[in-house]
Amino acid sequence: MRAIISGVGHYVPDKILSNSDLEKMVDTDDEWITSRTGIKERRILDKEKGTSYMATKAAQVVLEETRTSPEELDLILLATVTPDMPVPSAVSFVQRDLGASNSWGFDINGGCTGFMCALTTGTQFIESGRHQKVLVIGADKMSAITNYEDRTTCVLFGDAAGAVLLESSGKDDLGIQDFIMHLDGAGAESLTIAGGGSIYPASHETVDKKMHYIYQDGKTVFKHAVVGMADVSAKIVERNNLGDNDIRFFIPHQANYRIIDAAAKKIGLDPERVVININKYGNTTAATIPLAMSETYRSNKLQKGDWVVLAAFGAGFTWGSVLLRWALD
Ligand code: COA
Repeated sequence: MRAIISGVGHYVPDKILSNSDLEKMVDTDDEWITSRTGIKERRILDKEKGTSYMATKAAQVVLEETRTSPEELDLILLATVTPDMPVPSAVSFVQRDLGASNSWGFDINGGCTGFMCALTTGTQFIESGRHQKVLVIGADKMSAITNYEDRTTCVLFGDAAGAVLLESSGKDDLGIQDFIMHLDGAGAESLTIAGGGSIYPASHETVDKKMHYIYQDGKTVFKHAVVGMADVSAKIVERNNLGDNDIRFFIPHQANYRIIDAAAKKIGLDPERVVININKYGNTTAATIPLAMSETYRSNKLQKGDWVVLAAFGAGFTWGSVLLRWALD
């Protein structure tokens, strides 16, 4: 029994932060940002709203389009690094606001690989037969943890949410076919938000030292991301005996178009098969993959039976790939 994606949706805030806006905030320019990252603009959520707001909106699209009532959900998994609060889980607010009264759920912190961690976890609950309907959401309000005085990070991130519904297919040739997931804690210190946890609880000092913002050693992350994402993408294609032409779409995490390009070249894909929307949204962490999947589906480019490869790399380091056969008409 395979888990299929029976619905997909997304939400992005209306407010746009463009490269020219950032030029007025820090010492940067459109040319540098575009050539180094591929990003032109990103979306920013209102200050007073949290990640669960976007997650709920994306989930509502999925429930509406699949004609699923919230009470039918068995489980909601929310991948995020920006929960509304440290406690409770952000999914608690999503479950409440959706009215998914029969569902349990939990948050998953897999950094930029979070959506894939949640997707593969949800898949297990469907494949085991334990649950019938699992909602998997990736959502991040990166603007809440971005230092808009630091030009090395503030140009990269944006806010968004994406969601999919997982159900059983009854057919083995559709749905999630395979996955490869990795964690290597040797990279743990290369991408962090050091403050606000149990080592450095919030204090005047952590605020003064800007420890509640995202920090990354961009060069180290870049180097590992290129190798990690390319390797897992190539491996999952090879071990399922697929050729380059069999893959209809490669939907990678959107951190930097140069990382995506290197991974796509390694699996020998034409550019038209590589989904890129980083220009419009930047890196929205756990939301990038479901957002890109939802946009691709809505542009009528995905057809039932199409082979799709997902791949991501992020904090941890975590990285992985998922191979699926598209199940929606
Ligand atoms: N505008 C203008 N100049 C900038 C800048 C900006 N926004 N940000 C950095 N620079 C400068 C640097 O200060 C540096 O100047 P220096 O040489 O005088 O010191 C120069 O540009 C080159 O910086 P560098 O860090 O070498 O650039 P890069 O080509 O490595 O690109 C990233 C930086 C962040 C775009 C890139 O490293 C990256 O994408 N890393 C991985 C990101 C990622 O995947 N993160 C999330 C995990 S999924």
